[in-house]
Amino acid sequence: MLLTYKILEKRLGFDRALPVAEKWSAAADFLCIISDYCLQKRPQTIVECGSGTSTLVLSQCCKLNQHGHVYSLEHGEEFISQTRQHLHDFSLADYCDILHAPLKTAVLNDEKFRWYDLEELPALEIDLLVIDGPPGFIQKYSRYPALPVLNQLLAKNCTVFLDDAAREDEQEIVRRWLKNYPEFQAAYIDNERGCFVLSK
Ligand SMILES: C[S@@+](CC[C@H](N)C(=O)[O-])C[C@H]1O[C@@H](n2cnc3c(N)ncnc32)[C@H](O)[C@@H]1O
Repeated sequence: MLLTYKILEKRLGFDRALPVAEKWSAAADFLCIISDYCLQKRPQTIVECGSGTSTLVLSQCCKLNQHGHVYSLEHGEEFISQTRQHLHDFSLADYCDILHAPLKTAVLNDEKFRWYDLEELPALEIDLLVIDGPPGFIQKYSRYPALPVLNQLLAKNCTVFLDDAAREDEQEIVRRWLKNYPEFQAAYIDNERGCFVLSK
C-alpha cells in the first residue's frame, strides 16, 4: 500500500491535514518509519536537524506517548516562524522547541562545512536523532557533520535516522560515519527516498 500523508494523519490521530511542501517535506513513508519508532520506543529526548512536517509528526508522537520532547534545529528564520505557528495551530507547542541554529563553519578533519550553531541546544542526552537538514544544495555532504558534532550527546542506546539516503551524498556520508565511528551499525530501508537507521 502506498503510504500517504492522509493515512499517516489518520494513524496519528491528527484532526486536520498536515502542511506539506512537495519536494521539501519528508515523505509520508519516512514519517511513518520515525513515528512507528517513536510510538514503540518512547524516546525521551528527540533532536531533529531541519524542521517542518517531521516536527509536527514527532511532537504528535510525544503527545500520544505523554512522554518525550523534540528539539528541532533550524537555520532558516522563515521556517522557524512557520513551524512554530504550525505547532501552535496543532496544539503541539508544549512538546517541541524550535531552536534557531544559523549555519556556521565547522571544521572536521581539515574539511570545512556549514552546519548548525548549537548555542541554543541545552545539555542533553539524545535518544533519537532525525537528520533531514541542512539541505543538500548548501554543500557536498551537507549532513555529514551531524554525527561527528552530536556524537558526544548521543545516549548509549540512541537511534539515528537519516532521510534522503538514496542520494549518493548520503551513501558516502554513511560510509564515512561507519569508518570513523565503528561502534555504529547501519541498516538501509529502501523506501521512497531511502533511509538509513543507525544504532550502536
Ligand atoms: C528537507 S527540509 C526539512 C524538512 C522537514 N524535516 C520536514 O519534514 O518538513 C531541510 C531544510 O530546508 C529548508 N527548507 C524548507 N522548505 C524550503 C523551501 N520551500 N525552500 C527552501 N528551503 C526550504 C529548511 O531550512 C529545512 O530545515
